[in-house]
Amino acid sequence: MAAKKSARKSAKKSAARRTTPRKPAPKDKDLNDLFYDQLKDVYFAEKQILKALPKMAKAAQSRDLEAAFTKHFHETEGQVDRLEQVFRLIDKPARTKTCDAIMGILDEGKEVMDEYRGTEALDAGLLAAAQAVEHYEMARYGTMKAWAMQLGMHEVVRLIDETLEQERKTDKDLTILAEGAVNSEALAA
Ligand SMILES: [Fe+2]
Repeated sequence: MAAKKSARKSAKKSAARRTTPRKPAPKDKDLNDLFYDQLKDVYFAEKQILKALPKMAKAAQSRDLEAAFTKHFHETEGQVDRLEQVFRLIDKPARTKTCDAIMGILDEGKEVMDEYRGTEALDAGLLAAAQAVEHYEMARYGTMKAWAMQLGMHEVVRLIDETLEQERKTDKDLTILAEGAVNSEALAA
C-alpha cells in the first residue's frame, strides 16, 4: 500500500517536472520523421552557435583561442549551408526547432564570460564551454549520419560526414589549446 502511494507520488512529481505536456504519439511516424526533427533541431543549434562564436572570440584573451573561434565561425556558416542542402535533398522546408540542450550549453558559456571577465581563468572556461558545444554537435551529427545511412540517403551522409569531421577537428584543436598555454596561464595566475 505504502509502496503504491509512493509510486503515485513520484509519478505525480515527474509529471510536474515535465515542461511540455506529452502529446499522444502518432502511430504513423517513422525514422524519416525522426531525421527531419533532428535536422530542424541541429539547424536551430548551428544558428545559435553562429551568434555565440563572435562573442566568444571577442572575449578570448589568448590570440590562438580567438583565432580558433573565428575559424570555427566561418566553418559554421558552411555547416548551416550544408544543412540547407540536406533540407532540399529530403524535399522539406528549412525550419528550426528550439533545442533546449544547446541553449543550456550556450547559457553556461555566457555565465563564464560574465563571471570570469578579466580573470586569467576566463579562457579555460571558454574552452570548456566550446568543447561542450562540439561534443553536443558530434553526438547529433553522428546519430544523423547513422540514420541517413539506414535510410539510404548517400548524398546526405556525405554532407553530414563533412560537417562531423569539421566538428571533430575543432574539438581536437581545442584540446591542444586546452593542454597548452591556456590552462597553464590559468594555473599560473
Ligand atoms: Fe557546428
